[in-house]
Amino acid sequence: MTDIPFTPTRSPRPKPDDASLAFGKVLTDHMFMMNYEEGRGWHDPRVVPYAPLSMDPATSVLHYGQAVFDGLKAFRGEDGQIRLFRAERHAQRLNKSCRALCIPEMDPGLIRESFEAVVAADHDWVPRAPGTSLYIRPTVVATDVMLGVHPSHSYIYFVICSPVGAYYREGVKPIRILASDNHVRAVQGGLGEAKTAANYAASLSAQKEAAEAGYTQVLWLDGVERKYIDEVGTMNIMMQIGDEVITPPLAGTILDGVTRNSALALMRDWGLRVSERKISIDEVMQAGRDGTLREVWGTGTAAVVSPVGELGYKGDVIRIGNGHTGLLTQRLYDAIMGIQYGRAPDPHGWMSVV
Ligand code: COI
Repeated sequence: MTDIPFTPTRSPRPKPDDASLAFGKVLTDHMFMMNYEEGRGWHDPRVVPYAPLSMDPATSVLHYGQAVFDGLKAFRGEDGQIRLFRAERHAQRLNKSCRALCIPEMDPGLIRESFEAVVAADHDWVPRAPGTSLYIRPTVVATDVMLGVHPSHSYIYFVICSPVGAYYREGVKPIRILASDNHVRAVQGGLGEAKTAANYAASLSAQKEAAEAGYTQVLWLDGVERKYIDEVGTMNIMMQIGDEVITPPLAGTILDGVTRNSALALMRDWGLRVSERKISIDEVMQAGRDGTLREVWGTGTAAVVSPVGELGYKGDVIRIGNGHTGLLTQRLYDAIMGIQYGRAPDPHGWMSVV
């Protein structure tokens, strides 16, 4: 239990039907808040009723995007217990994003407590239907009121929550992805490995172009040679070519995905040959043509695992798995969800009960 002050809402909102949950549309009754001012540090952690934030129009985050966030989930197990998945790793990653954006780091123990405190306050909002969860969104934004570009001297940290169903309306069905050769997401020395607003803003026009061409997500190529694969949409990418599982290395341009890390750990447990190495789009297209490309999938907190059924690049299209989810993709999905819902043993100690 936490001793963070808690002010319960006096006007609880109606809860949605678990079966109709989309991603991130409904927010819960409470939020965690904490403030930072230079000289005083982070102070006043509290759980309060969910409410709009009031900001001066000159607040620096609104202009220069000094903002970081993370995303993790709480699951209601079949035994009724509510568990967080890899809260500690998410707390560390939030601090890493803070460092990249010149935001003062927080005590990682307090970040974990912030997750636990808000989930405990909104425990009734953790949905019950299979495949549903409570998505937790910790966010830090710069609050100095001034139009000069500078690292802010004041910030707010808040954690809001949303009961969610599956991220993709299609469910765990293969998605179609388009490799973009005219947009890039990140370059080395940039912000690619931080979870910051700018990366998502930078993705929108490419995502729009992909959607207009009938694809679900963009496949991002490296920003220098436009040759090597980085990420897919908002997810890390993995594939199996012959007996090798390949995912791009953490070399400064891609997010250190928690689901990526978990999937790699599980596949290594299973004795698979797993490589974190550079892989070019040409190598993937060639493997698609010669029949050695067995499976491609994305990993992310929101979707967990998302099979890729079609890959477009420069007018060529390769189809993967005949419209079906591959065996390894499905095995990973089942294994991760099994751990998350407390149905399977948790050998790595990823789950923590709230
Ligand atoms: C994820 O959890 O996969 C994401 O990063 C998606 C989120 C930005 C909605």
